[in-house]
Amino acid sequence: MTNNILNKFSLKNKKVFVIGGCGLIGSPISEAILSASAELYVLDNDKKRGNYLQKKFRDFKFKYIYYDLSSINTFDKRFKNIIKKYGCPNVFINCSYPTTRDWKNSNFDKNKISILRKNIDIHLNTHSWISYSMCEIMKKNKIKGSVILFGSIYGIVGQSTNLYKKTNLRENMNYSIIKGGLITLTKQLASYYGQSGIRVNIICPGGIEGNVKGKKIKQPLNFMKNYSKQSPLRRLGKPEEIAPSALFLSSEASSYITGTIFLVDGGWTSI
Ligand SMILES: NC(=O)c1ccc[n+]([C@@H]2O[C@H](COP(=O)([O-])OP(=O)(O)OC[C@H]3O[C@@H](n4cnc5c(N)ncnc54)[C@H](O)[C@@H]3O)[C@@H](O)[C@H]2O)c1
Repeated sequence: MTNNILNKFSLKNKKVFVIGGCGLIGSPISEAILSASAELYVLDNDKKRGNYLQKKFRDFKFKYIYYDLSSINTFDKRFKNIIKKYGCPNVFINCSYPTTRDWKNSNFDKNKISILRKNIDIHLNTHSWISYSMCEIMKKNKIKGSVILFGSIYGIVGQSTNLYKKTNLRENMNYSIIKGGLITLTKQLASYYGQSGIRVNIICPGGIEGNVKGKKIKQPLNFMKNYSKQSPLRRLGKPEEIAPSALFLSSEASSYITGTIFLVDGGWTSI
């Protein structure tokens, strides 16, 4: 009897696409998806890490595909070509994090309309459009699939300025706009594509311990201290603590769940 329930977590004979599957959160998701026996395609613009994963997962049904979401004029066409070549997935996860070079200037002192515009384009617009395209393709192929987006606690609540005290980090105005938009889109897609049996959910992590983007260092110690003090579980999350939620939402175990904001935040948004 217990076995029956566990079987629902299996992704055997399922095709899964993960955009951003080479990242901090994406890598453990890729491992979890493979361990559930799926055929996994990781689409990411990090060639070096992609090739590393291709070697690491050589004994699994794994394929790394170079893919850059931020080439805004062609991303949709290239995505459709990939689907034409490899087939329509049952599960689509987007945990990529495209940003511009001046992304860190998105704080209230330095922000510019050009930074906001460009990041809306490469993050909110591409993620929205590709999720919509994916739902349409699943519908046409009569696949009752699962689409999983990535939001953040900062699409739900404001950023506490206390967190950045005695650090070189700052709040990010543009991030809140992007993640807030993706959360509402998730509900809209879930509402419309539910009738086709397609489920759409968004995972919203809290602060995750790990490398600061582009640098091989952890978040500043003071940030980690400030964050832990304010968090009900008194710590940041670990990247591998997000993967089980992605696996659950990918699988039949979550067959009656759609349109949810799946919080994995150590209780951050509860207080
Ligand atoms: N790390 C956190 O603390 C945290 C907290 C809340 C939400 N999130 C969200 O989770 C998601 C993953 O975050 P992460 O920390 O793993 O980020 P990350 O930077 O470690 O990984 C992102 C991945 O996306 C890929 N990527 C970036 N630009 C791309 C592009 N133009 N085309 C294709 N792939 C591209 C990168 O190569 C990388 O593999 C993001 O959407 C982020 O906003 C992260």
